[in-house]
Order: sequence, then C-alpha cells, then structure tokens
Amino acid sequence: MKRILVTGGAGFIGANFVHHMIAHSDSEITVLDKMTYAANRQSLEGLDSKRVNLVVGDICDYVLVNELVPQHDAVVHFAAETHNDNSLHDPRSFVISNVLGTFELLEAVRNHGVRLHHISTDEVYGDLELDDPQRFTETTPYKPSSPYSATKASSDLLVKAWVRSFGIEATLSNCSNNYGPYQHVEKFIPRQITNVLGGLRPKLYGNGANVRDWIHASDHSSAVQLILEAGQAGRTYLIGADGEKSNREVLALILELMGRKADDFDAVADRAGHDLRYAIDSTVLRTELSWQPRYTDLVQGLEQAIGWYRQHRSWWEPAKAQTEQRYAQQADAFKVAS
Ligand code: NAD
Ligand code: TYD
Repeated sequence: MKRILVTGGAGFIGANFVHHMIAHSDSEITVLDKMTYAANRQSLEGLDSKRVNLVVGDICDYVLVNELVPQHDAVVHFAAETHNDNSLHDPRSFVISNVLGTFELLEAVRNHGVRLHHISTDEVYGDLELDDPQRFTETTPYKPSSPYSATKASSDLLVKAWVRSFGIEATLSNCSNNYGPYQHVEKFIPRQITNVLGGLRPKLYGNGANVRDWIHASDHSSAVQLILEAGQAGRTYLIGADGEKSNREVLALILELMGRKADDFDAVADRAGHDLRYAIDSTVLRTELSWQPRYTDLVQGLEQAIGWYRQHRSWWEPAKAQTEQRYAQQADAFKVAS
C-alpha cells in the first residue's frame, strides 16, 4: 500500500499517524484536511516533502474527493469534528463532516475500487458503570450518548452498510481516548497541562469520577498500520491499551509531575450527558494481529506529553486564549439554558 490518502491528517491523531507511517513504511501520503480550528500545519513540519503532500479541502467536496481517491491505493479516514463539548453547543458541523463527509468518501471508494480504513471511537458504545466487569468488545451494541458519538456511530453504520451492500474493501477501528503530542488544547490532558504552563488553574468536570481508557497516539498509529496491512476486509477492530483511570487520578498525576499541589485545580460544572466510563477489550487485535502497545505506563506517557507541551509553546499558545474564551462562552450559554 504505497500511496495513502489520509483525511484529517493535520489534526491530532492523523498527524501522529502520518509521522508514524513516514518512519515505519515506504508509503507516500496525501493529507486531505479542511484546516478547521483543530488542525495545525506545524504538526506536519519536518516531514519529507517528497513523501507528504497537504491538500487543503473538504471531505464533503464531491469533485475534489473523486479527483484524489483514484490516485491512491488506500484511504485512511480520520477527518471529523471531534470535541464532545462543541457538539453540545453546535452539532450541525458534526453531522455535516462526520456523516455526510464519510458518505462522500464511501461513494468515492466504491466508484474507484479503493481500500478504506475508517477511524472511529469507543464512544459509539455509550458508557459503562464504574463497577461493570464487562469492557467494550467488537460485538457490543451501539448506544451513543452525545451528538459527537451519535455522528461517529452513524458514520460507522454507513461504512458497514457499504461493505455489506456494495462489497467495498473496508476495515473499521474503534479506539479509546488518545493522548500525546499535537493534541488540541481543548481536550482534557493538554488543557490541564497548558493551564499549568500558562498560569491558569486546571478544570475538572463534576466530581472527576468519570473513567477514560487512555492510549498514547503512537500506539493507536501502530495498530492502524497493522490493520491496514493485515486486517480482514469488512472487520471491526477495537484498539485500547488497558489504560483505565478516573479523571481525578489523571489530574492528580499531572499536578504531581508538574510540581503543583494536589488541590491546585477548580471543580467546574459537569458536562451535560457526561459518559461515566469507557473501557476497551482489545484481545482480538492482540491475538489475531499480534499488536502490543509501547506505552503501558501512563506516568511515563504523561511525562513525555508534558515535556512535549513545555518544548512546543509556539505550537499551542496561539490557540490557548481562544479556546479558554470558547469554554467561558459555553459555560455562559449553559447557565442561560438551565
Ligand atoms: P482532531 O479534531 O484533532 O482532528 C480532526 C481533523 O479533521 C482536523 O485536522 C480537521 O481540520 C479535520 N477535518 C474536520 N472536518 C473536516 C472536513 N469536513 N474535511 C476535511 N478535514 C476535516 O481529531 P482527532 O482527535 O485527531 O481525531 C481523529 C479521528 O480519530 C476522528 O475520527 C475521531 O473520531 C477519532 N478518534 C479520536 C479519539 C481521541 O481520543 N481523540 C479516540 C478515538 C477515535
Ligand atoms: P475529552 O478530552 O473531552 O474527551 P472525551 O469527552 O472524548 O472523553 O474529556 C476527557 C474526560 O475529561 C471527560 O470525562 C471530560 C473530562 N474533562 C474535564 O474534567 N475537564 C476538562 O477541562 C475537559 C476538557 C474534559
């Protein structure tokens, strides 16, 4: 699979995947990205320009998508609106990019006979109780809670229908919460790290008991490469690294690693409809494709992420003030609505 079209490759996980593929394969990559607020050109800096090309454009653009798709051996589809909090305040762009955008790509891979790997999230399965012994598997029923997860679930169902009805050659993966370099400062871990670096207090939603199953973005990338190279057409693979921690625990680790007191944060209003717990059982990926994560210790992964944000202030500082302003506006809107 030499020529790969990576949608959303200027976003967090897409950029990590492009770096990973340039280092671990001989592929040539076209990034198709609309360059929303979540994208950053700097995330693709330093890569060999003979092997990576950025096309600024929309996956909803029929003409552009049908021009690009046939020039490639495979499409890896990361592009999406991705932040749950934004989806509660402005769901329209989520329906357009995540559902209609995926539809355009599906039609293009069908018409041109190109392999697709669709990137999705474990949030399509809804949430688990804190004491539930079960974790999500490939057969867990879909039960999304938020506008974001509902649009991701919709896109997954479209891919599955195009596999069954039209026989397109596609695989899917549903991954747990990622962290690592190039993650936008709106998301939990980078928001808290950059709050500390920028002299602001970290913000914990509700009582912080909610559990997420953390995986380093480089481990997500290695799993996607394996699925692309050895996955079975039509199959779904769950990607997770046994990284369950409550938000309270993660914040405590960040504060400790950054030399702050354990109570140096603000408990703020909870997110509406806040999913309680996500947890992935990745046995299928580990046994069938022999995948193993490299980052199995969250402390080590957080140390690396904190180091990256310390050393890359020029990457995140331009977005920081605007992001915090957006959070303040969303809190005001919530007060008016409630
Ligand atoms: P991100 O928000 O950092 O990046 C998304 C990228 O998609 C941005 O560069 C944006 O400009 C681009 N994009 C959005 N709409 C587009 C459109 N219409 N046309 C072209 N480009 C468009 O997101 P991320 O965290 O890197 O997530 C990438 C994918 O991985 C998403 O599909 C997401 O659902 C999935 N995922 C994310 C996580 C996570 O923890 N972040 C976990 C599991 C799965
Ligand atoms: P987030 O990074 O938005 O990912 P997701 O909603 O996809 O899980 O949030 C991760 C968890 O952190 C989630 O339970 C919400 C919580 N959270 C906070 O406590 N404070 C914050 O400032 C943010 C952004 C999230």
